[in-house]
Amino acid sequence: MKKILVINGPNLNLLGKREIEIYGKTSLKSIENTTREFAKNNSLEVEFKQSNEESEIINWIQDCMKNSYNGLLINAGAYTHTSIAIFDALKAIKIPIIEIHLSNIHKREEFRKKSFISEVANGVIFGFGSYSYILAIMAIKNLLENKNG
Ligand code: DQA
Repeated sequence: MKKILVINGPNLNLLGKREIEIYGKTSLKSIENTTREFAKNNSLEVEFKQSNEESEIINWIQDCMKNSYNGLLINAGAYTHTSIAIFDALKAIKIPIIEIHLSNIHKREEFRKKSFISEVANGVIFGFGSYSYILAIMAIKNLLENKNG
C-alpha cells in the first residue's frame, strides 16, 4: 500500500479548542481518524504527525528522502508564512507535496497570503475546514495514479 505522510505544524494540536470560529470544533485526533479511514478506503496508508517545533518538522520532511513515503501532505500552520528552512527541506524531496490549510488564508490577515510552501507544492487546498484533509487525500491519490499511469 502506498504511504502518505501528513505533517501538522504549530498550534494544530489545539484544534477544537482554538479559535473555533475559524478552525472549527473538530480535534486533530478526529481529523486524523477521518483522514486515515478515508485514505484506507482509497488504498492508501497514512502516517499522521504534529509538532510545534520547526526542527522536528524539517527532520520529518528529510525522512521522505529515504523512500519510505510516496506522498506528503503538510499543514505547516504559521511556519507556512515564515519558514525558509521548511521551504528548503521541501525542495530537497522528490515526492508529490500537497499544502493544506483549514482556513481560507486569502480571506484573513495580509501576512497569511504569503506561503513559502506553495512554491514547492504540487497543489494547495485551503478553506474547507477539516474537509481540506480529505480533499488532499483525493488530490494525492490522483497525482500518484497519474504519475504511475
Ligand atoms: C492554518 C493557517 C495558518 O495561517 C495558521 O497560522 C494556522 C493554521 C490553517 O490550517 O488554516 O496555524 O495553517
